[in-house]
Amino acid sequence: MKIVIDSGNVKEIRDLNEYFPIDGVTTNPSIIVKEQRPFLPLLKEIRNVIGEEKELFVQVISNKAENMVEEAHYVTNSISGEVVIKIPVTEEGIKAIKLLKAEGIRTLATTVYTPMSAFVAAKAGAEYVAPYVNRIDNLGNGTNVVSEITQIFSIHNLPCQVLAASFKNVKQLLNVALVGAHGITASPELIKAMLEHSSVEKDVCKFRDEWVQLYGKETISLMV
Ligand code: E4P
Repeated sequence: MKIVIDSGNVKEIRDLNEYFPIDGVTTNPSIIVKEQRPFLPLLKEIRNVIGEEKELFVQVISNKAENMVEEAHYVTNSISGEVVIKIPVTEEGIKAIKLLKAEGIRTLATTVYTPMSAFVAAKAGAEYVAPYVNRIDNLGNGTNVVSEITQIFSIHNLPCQVLAASFKNVKQLLNVALVGAHGITASPELIKAMLEHSSVEKDVCKFRDEWVQLYGKETISLMV
């Protein structure tokens, strides 16, 4: 299951990428706007931080399919490495996904709220779909939607991955992992929170204290 950072903040991305097994970075218009920086230099800096092979997801703004395709060309021509274009699951978006698939440009269908919209996007050629778990939870049950999408893709052999998105807590991440999501994209805080448990630091301190009491050093290096 992939772990993707849902952020446009270069410092947060750099820190997480150093410590965690990160597969890529997702952005959306709100995430980009939050950084208050010119668009392309920001994306290029993120690319430099994560390297050429990790996926960088960039969302279109236009409403019409032809304009979405133009934006996809602009981004893929400007940003090196593995770029995936995020397209909302509107009718125009589905048309754009089909057109981009024919050109070999990779897409993720975003703003997914229902299993059937995910199915249509996958049939159109999207490589990923991003169901909005927390936003769906506010209306119904996000985990169920993720579960139904993964089942549909599996039953019908659709080569499309579920990159679950929009999370507010670790329980939501656990729930989608258990129903077979292929990946999660979450904020840096939530990715770090996956490791949090009050017992860990206590256990580690006790091991170290016992060791130091006998051997006098906080390391096993150069021990006999
Ligand atoms: C993915 O990239 C989505 O755009 C994002 O996870 C949405 O999250 P939000 O519901 O917290 O805005």
